Amino acid sequence: MKIVTIIGARPQFIKAAAFSAAVQQHNQNNEPIIKEVIVHTGQHFDANMSAVFFEEMQIPKPDYLLDINSLGHGAMTGRMLEAIEKILIEEKPDWVLVYGDTNSTLAGALAASKLHIKVAHVEAGLRSFNMKMPEEINRILTDRISKLLLCPSESAIANLKKEGFEQMNCRVINVGDIMYDTTLMFSAKARKPKVDLPENYALLTMHRAENTDDLQRLKSILSGLIAISKHQKIVWPIHPRTKKILEQNAITLPKTLITIDPVGYLEMLYLIKHSGLVLTDSGGLQKEAYFLKKYCITLRDETEWVELVEQKFNFLCTEEETLLSYFQKYFNKPITVVKNIYGSGDTAQKVIESLLFF
Ligand code: UD1
Ligand code: UDP
Repeated sequence: MKIVTIIGARPQFIKAAAFSAAVQQHNQNNEPIIKEVIVHTGQHFDANMSAVFFEEMQIPKPDYLLDINSLGHGAMTGRMLEAIEKILIEEKPDWVLVYGDTNSTLAGALAASKLHIKVAHVEAGLRSFNMKMPEEINRILTDRISKLLLCPSESAIANLKKEGFEQMNCRVINVGDIMYDTTLMFSAKARKPKVDLPENYALLTMHRAENTDDLQRLKSILSGLIAISKHQKIVWPIHPRTKKILEQNAITLPKTLITIDPVGYLEMLYLIKHSGLVLTDSGGLQKEAYFLKKYCITLRDETEWVELVEQKFNFLCTEEETLLSYFQKYFNKPITVVKNIYGSGDTAQKVIESLLFF
């Protein structure tokens, strides 16, 4: 069986690390029956947004490295579509595997489905119900043209049922969350970043368009974060998108909000483990906080990871005034997890089985 995997953005490298490792393991134990061809669209391209993950997580070198980035949605997705189509015509895979909800995801799924190549979508069924998010558009369209919808949770399955996927010519399965596989695989290898870290700190990431592209909203969230940082230092590996916007608007931050360059996954795991709490608008980080038993304040109005909010491990908050009170209530309080909501950490294996026995 030949699979073409399409990846392009940081969270996809992290998810692909678990799948590629499982494919290699599978091929070692048996006759090599799965050939994975990796296409990197180039959407993320800085060394610390891309190469670092391939190096430290032993992801195989991409077979195709496109250089499509830093463009508007139309140009980026369109150019990816054209380039991926050419590759698929050449490679003739049995499946195209896509992850998550980025422009690379949609371009891969669209190119494959028009060529009648089966699409498998890892992280299917997630919904924020906010159609202003580019990610929501990408994930809804990708789900609709996928043959194998690999959901991370029961709520994702329920979303697809409500949308009528049971009547469609596709298969919907709960395989758990592949990011749990990755956290388990690399947690023991967590490594301190080469920066001065305060003894106690909250960890922050923020890059979503809904926060960075609305200046009033950005400034309001920043005010809330600055209020927190007067009580406890905040360490912020800053996404290039956010860095550019802060620079363009001449926004300066106090020293208590410690910005550092984006870090590799092993360093990120260290930062999460040693933090007192996580503040983020990232999808991936909300779950990693939970896997590593930290409370999370999500800087958004809604989340796709609804179970975490329902079970009070995660709190949605963008209000300047309320951020500090959430922080004070949950900083340095460990969470107790009885049974993991997102599976057993064997998602990559389940994805392989679903593909082989479709
Ligand atoms: C993308 C995804 C988002 C995901 C995020 C993960 C879409 C629509 N959005 O957002 O869902 O949460 O990745 O991080 O696909 N940039 C650099 N260096 C890099 C990468 C990006 O400078 O290595 C700059 C780009 O030039 C651009 C900006 O950051 O100016 C945004 O990059 P882009 O890939 O368009 O979107 P993200 O915000 O990264
Ligand atoms: N991450 C990382 N280094 C960083 C910031 C994030 O390795 O400096 C990891 C993080 O631990 C998670 C993933 O990147 O595994 C999440 O990616 P991101 O927040 O870019 O995207 P999202 O999950 O929101 O789509």
